[in-house]
Amino acid sequence: MLNFRNLKLLQKLVNTTSVRRLGTTSIRNHGSLFVHRDTQDNNLDVKFEFTPDNLKRVDAILSIYPEGHKRAAMIPLLDLAQRQHGWLPISAMHKVAEILSLPKMRVYEVATFYTMFMRNPTGKYHIQICTTTPCWLRGSDEVLNCIKSKLNINVGETTPDGKFTLSEVECLGACVNAPMIQVNDDYYEDLTVKDTEEILTDLQNDKKPTAGPRSGRYASEPIKGLTSLTEEPYGPGFGVKQDL
Ligand code: FES
Repeated sequence: MLNFRNLKLLQKLVNTTSVRRLGTTSIRNHGSLFVHRDTQDNNLDVKFEFTPDNLKRVDAILSIYPEGHKRAAMIPLLDLAQRQHGWLPISAMHKVAEILSLPKMRVYEVATFYTMFMRNPTGKYHIQICTTTPCWLRGSDEVLNCIKSKLNINVGETTPDGKFTLSEVECLGACVNAPMIQVNDDYYEDLTVKDTEEILTDLQNDKKPTAGPRSGRYASEPIKGLTSLTEEPYGPGFGVKQDL
């Protein structure tokens, strides 16, 4: 129950853990607008074709799905197009619609729904920082400020050299390793400001930092060692009646 004392404690927690106050929400600038606006880089005149290698991948993906259900390949095909181009121009969506023999609108519906599809030019390294509550309580604001000042960009922006794009996102499912960021396909977890700086420096030098927790943990186990399941596992047949 929220009484006066709890309220005081809560205020103290908020004041000491982060600069963001309860009752405020950060501005989401993931870049996922739900409408298409023609730009110099993204318009119907920009041609998109899958490379010969990726055309083989298209065939392999389509072969997984039975006749009559090929449209289920839409997300893998959009993902392939994005990996080839670096982001997903409207012409790539049209190519996927053509391959799947679907109305273009069906592809727009999917590509605009999932934030994994970047529909504007995106940097070589797409940094997604989670600022949802567990990450926030563990210092995601400090990590975010570090990224902003080191790269000199704000959320939703790309560095002038086209190397980094910064997005602020909701929970990425790694709360037990908060705070964390995702860079392209990799998670970097248990971050401090120093870790973040090191990761960014490596990426600026096109060096791939080791993904995973930076705290020395292997995964999400307790940092001071196991607190349960510490004994030897029982062998097969444990607890089974002798006469069985
Ligand atoms: S809250 Fe950040 S990964 Fe879940």
